[in-house]
Amino acid sequence: MRASTSPKRISIVVATPRTTQTLKRKTRRFFLLSSSSSSLEEKREDENKNAFKTCWSNHPQTEDGENIIVKEVVKNKLYVCERQFLWNTIDVGGRMAVVKLQNGELWVHSPIDLDEETKKEIEKLGEVKHIVSPNYEHLKYAKMWKRAYPNATLWGCPGLKEKKRGEIPYDKDLGDVKEEWKDEWLNEFEMVHWDCESLFSKPFFNEVSFAHKESKCLMVTDVYWNYPDGEGMDEKLYTFKEKGWKFLMDVIYLPIYKNVLCFGEEKKKKLRARVEDVERLDFDTIVPCHGTIVKDGDVKNTLRKHLL
Ligand SMILES: [Fe+2]
Repeated sequence: MRASTSPKRISIVVATPRTTQTLKRKTRRFFLLSSSSSSLEEKREDENKNAFKTCWSNHPQTEDGENIIVKEVVKNKLYVCERQFLWNTIDVGGRMAVVKLQNGELWVHSPIDLDEETKKEIEKLGEVKHIVSPNYEHLKYAKMWKRAYPNATLWGCPGLKEKKRGEIPYDKDLGDVKEEWKDEWLNEFEMVHWDCESLFSKPFFNEVSFAHKESKCLMVTDVYWNYPDGEGMDEKLYTFKEKGWKFLMDVIYLPIYKNVLCFGEEKKKKLRARVEDVERLDFDTIVPCHGTIVKDGDVKNTLRKHLL
């Protein structure tokens, strides 16, 4: 999906027999192990007390051990907040991106826990006016941010506003982009909607990836990750748990995404088309939620190598 194309509506899912629903729930629970899911995130809340602890996945400290609360990636245009994100004591990592729009307002991608220190630093950059949940899984802090910034618009990936009605107060749905919304920020980005995957005919992650034109950064949530191999890292940070998580993601989950969530010729064709859509965007840096920012080498070919 690009901002300039006509909106894509999400179909309504009909009720299914209880046995099928149970199977769906169990299957979904299995898949959720591979991402920072909203349901499992509830359980992680108590584990995630020290947001600024040095972590395996996103390295939020300088060499002298100073915490980096907000890191500037592209001068005066794009910033990130990198935090440890514990799931069952495994650090799965989390990175939020903040874009400064042309009018000075802030656009927030996949928000992290909004503690006082983070809030203070973010507000030095500008006024938060847009908060984006880019897929069905990175939702945990959306309500918290909307509460903190009630005048900001809370955007959901296609279908999310309806899916979370009554739970999270989404204002607008990216599956229903209207002409009159485009001046807000949509013209400053290009977008690709990964409408190639589903489970039991329902979109699973339903991610929208965003390329910010001015910073030339591509922000991705769960379609791409690049957990480090731990080389040179403190063994306390890169324990058997993190090694296991990396194995699970790279060796077990990735083939599941490609071959189960994108099962069948039609979905495979769409997957290839979406990778090509991304390659056509104008970016030279990838800012993933999980792993390391990609700046060097053949950046444009990164998602192709990962997914195809
Ligand atoms: Fe995730």
